[in-house]
Amino acid sequence: MGRRHGATQSKSVPRFRLGENSQFETIKPDQLTKMRREKHAPGGLSRALYEEFRARIADGTFAVGGSLPSTRALAAERGLSRATVSLVYEQLAADGFIETRGGAVSRVAAGAAPGDTARAPARDAAGALAPDQFAGRLSALGTRVEGMTLQDTEPVASGDTDFIYGPLAGRDFPTLAWLRALRAVERQRMPRLAYEDPRGNLELRKALQTHLSQTRGLSCSTEQLMIVNGSQQALDLCARLLLDPGDPVVVENPGYRMAHHVFESYGADLQCIDVDEHGLRTGELDPVRVAQMVYVTPTHQFPLGSFLPIGRRRELLAWAADRRAWVVEDDYDSEYRYSVRPEATLLSLDTHGCVIHVGTFSKTLSPQLRLGYMVVPDRLVDTFAAAKRLADRHAATGIQRALALLLEDGSYDRHVRRMRRLQHARQRALIEALQEQLAGRVEVQGVASGLHLVVWFPALPSMAELALVKEASRLGVRVYPVSPLYRRSGQQAERPRPAGLIMGYALLEREAIFDGVRRLSEALRRLEASVGQGRGAHWQAPDQGGLLTQPPC
Ligand SMILES: Cc1ncc(COP(=O)(O)O)c(C=O)c1O
Repeated sequence: MGRRHGATQSKSVPRFRLGENSQFETIKPDQLTKMRREKHAPGGLSRALYEEFRARIADGTFAVGGSLPSTRALAAERGLSRATVSLVYEQLAADGFIETRGGAVSRVAAGAAPGDTARAPARDAAGALAPDQFAGRLSALGTRVEGMTLQDTEPVASGDTDFIYGPLAGRDFPTLAWLRALRAVERQRMPRLAYEDPRGNLELRKALQTHLSQTRGLSCSTEQLMIVNGSQQALDLCARLLLDPGDPVVVENPGYRMAHHVFESYGADLQCIDVDEHGLRTGELDPVRVAQMVYVTPTHQFPLGSFLPIGRRRELLAWAADRRAWVVEDDYDSEYRYSVRPEATLLSLDTHGCVIHVGTFSKTLSPQLRLGYMVVPDRLVDTFAAAKRLADRHAATGIQRALALLLEDGSYDRHVRRMRRLQHARQRALIEALQEQLAGRVEVQGVASGLHLVVWFPALPSMAELALVKEASRLGVRVYPVSPLYRRSGQQAERPRPAGLIMGYALLEREAIFDGVRRLSEALRRLEASVGQGRGAHWQAPDQGGLLTQPPC
């Protein structure tokens, strides 16, 4: 929208009456200067004029029902083109601030001013609602979510070595294959851009069905497969459709907090069962008489890394069938088994139709793609499809089709094999570095698979984790404590534990791993020296330590 050029001199213009008490002020020279400056702001003069009208309607200068000057008169007064003023009026009318009826004079619309509605809350001079004035209530779910503290991690100083678990290295992403697949999808442009099946793109579900059968021995129909926005959405759908507030849900302790949080947000009553070197202690399940769901990571227990043996798997399934509890099997990183191929899933052992199997591409491709999948029992297929449709219709189609191509032409399998080699080499480097720098002072857990190790410091109590993490951070190395992943269960006293760290290696190459472990070893030496000097008595529990001391998972 333009303005007429040359209208720079001071103007004395007629006043325009707008309703009984208000009037349109004469433009003063300094206002014209300001407006000229505003010409260069986004939206320029027309935006300034629009905002001016809104503000004056809000503060009552222009009363409801009052007439506005004609576009011609206002254009002359402001030195603007009539087209500019007409556009501003059209915008005000479209937004409901004024009414313009076919050639008749324009008026301030009923309800345009904040005070014009019966229960209008307080607003500031610009018409904005004061944040504490809005008394709308949250739902019970909203209130629970409001009360939760979902941890994020602090940004890492550049140059720091970060043993974070969760992110993958950008350089490991199969960029060329992915771009090739995206281009191929683009070339096969669809004649109709319609909503798809909420369970996801059929080509992808077919390709995934074959892939899961070959790599996980899973047999399921394409109807049972649903593509979701990361496994987090699968967990959210399970909670939404299978849990009522107060329902008992059995979880591993320690365990994956993002799962625990989502169940708690729906009001679940979490029943924690301890984990040992063979995964969930199924022998402790018996006293749990009622359960609506059990959430487990049987192929690679998160975070301790154990594999649930067949005997315990059978025990778990029998217990769940007896309680009529759903079993959510989170198979988040089975691609990274370094010694033997992953064994049978709970889903393939299930004879009752109670297992919901969840997987993700966050560990092999990128967590930013938000691509995961779930295999649901036949009985739940339609319900989950309907809930997915209600949540977001379906996952993004182009990305699903690109992934289908990667699965079909073998590039995904090649990429996974390469990633497994890379990650295994990084894991070996970490173990070597720990042996070199910290031999005899640490115990390592979870070497069979995954993208992280749990490193225990038997000589340090768990209360010392925070101090170790902070000392390491001072020396430029980021490590993450394991304690926040343990839940305190009821009145039960916690078993004493040594300090432990979750050390992810997916971002780091050999040299950085060795350098990081050297610094960690120095941090431990300094900490032990300070304990020797009597400064260790004031350990701070990790969950009181803020972002730095929270694992990102
Ligand atoms: C136990 C577990 N499950 C699932 C995931 C992946 O979540 P998503 O697929 O939502 O990215 C992770 C990621 O860290 C995890 O640790």
